[in-house]
Amino acid sequence: MGLGDLRKILHTFPQQAAKELLVGIETADDASVYQLREDILLIQTLDFFTPIVDDPFLYGQISAANSLSDVYAMGGKPLTALNIVCFPCGLDLSILAEILRGAREKTEEAGVLIVGGHSVEDEVPKFGMSVIGIVEKKDIVRVSGAKPGDYLVLTKPLGIGLLATALKGGLISEDDINDELKSATQLNRGASEAMVEVGVNAGTDITGFGLLGHLFEMMEASGSSAEIWVDQTPIWPKALEYAELGVVPGGTKSSREAVKEQVVIDKALGKAWLDILFDPQTSGGLLISVAAELKEALLDKLSRKGVSTKAVIGRVQEDRKGIIRVKERKG
Ligand code: CO
Ligand code: CO
Repeated sequence: MGLGDLRKILHTFPQQAAKELLVGIETADDASVYQLREDILLIQTLDFFTPIVDDPFLYGQISAANSLSDVYAMGGKPLTALNIVCFPCGLDLSILAEILRGAREKTEEAGVLIVGGHSVEDEVPKFGMSVIGIVEKKDIVRVSGAKPGDYLVLTKPLGIGLLATALKGGLISEDDINDELKSATQLNRGASEAMVEVGVNAGTDITGFGLLGHLFEMMEASGSSAEIWVDQTPIWPKALEYAELGVVPGGTKSSREAVKEQVVIDKALGKAWLDILFDPQTSGGLLISVAAELKEALLDKLSRKGVSTKAVIGRVQEDRKGIIRVKERKG
């Protein structure tokens, strides 16, 4: 299901109104936000998916990091999580134990307690989590709020969807993409803390709709447009190789179709680049919109939080709402 289809379905149900509900299903924000007290907000989210790797421990780690990410994307601190498990009855239970062990390791790193869960029998394994977090009202980071003149900062390289597809097709092994998979296990906690401490204008995490799909949502919600510089955008080199070979995940095309009117691309850029920029990311990095005068402070803070990728990939502009220009080079 693509970006366009999902929006259509969600919009057939109007959001139930309640004064405590600050963010529900009607916006493109990463999670729901409910006002608990005047100064404290509750963040709630859920995510699960089929394995992208064979190693069950690694899958558990990636899925947990991904589930926690929507809380981090809003500047929140995750507190508790519930496991969501679908598992075939014929499969060895030690595999499930390893998935849960991987998830447990990540939640411990995040300081999150696993407080329960639910499992059902299913033909294909699926795993994820529902996560609850909190954030002080003054610290919340929304997908709206990007302002003309802001710089756009990305905190993980792109291309994990292409690599997972190559992996599924048997073209590469997990050993060939150790660094890439390790990046998918990394929590967005440091990036989230940096974002809150510096005070940014908008943020989201890059997941199923790819960089341009999520950037479009940010620009549309913010009433701005943006320019992206491909030469500044971090990617996994192997991902471009597979994009050139046409080993492209299913979701890429539908994300591209959904925003094709709004995305203007430099003619010099080949189709493989579009496949990278729309590549659905599992446990991708944060995309942060920061005021020009705070850009250096954010980059510095990201370094001190141990965030290894911190690329300034573009700039927000005043123009027609939701338009994205993809340029081969900065300037
Ligand atoms: Co998200
Ligand atoms: Co999600």
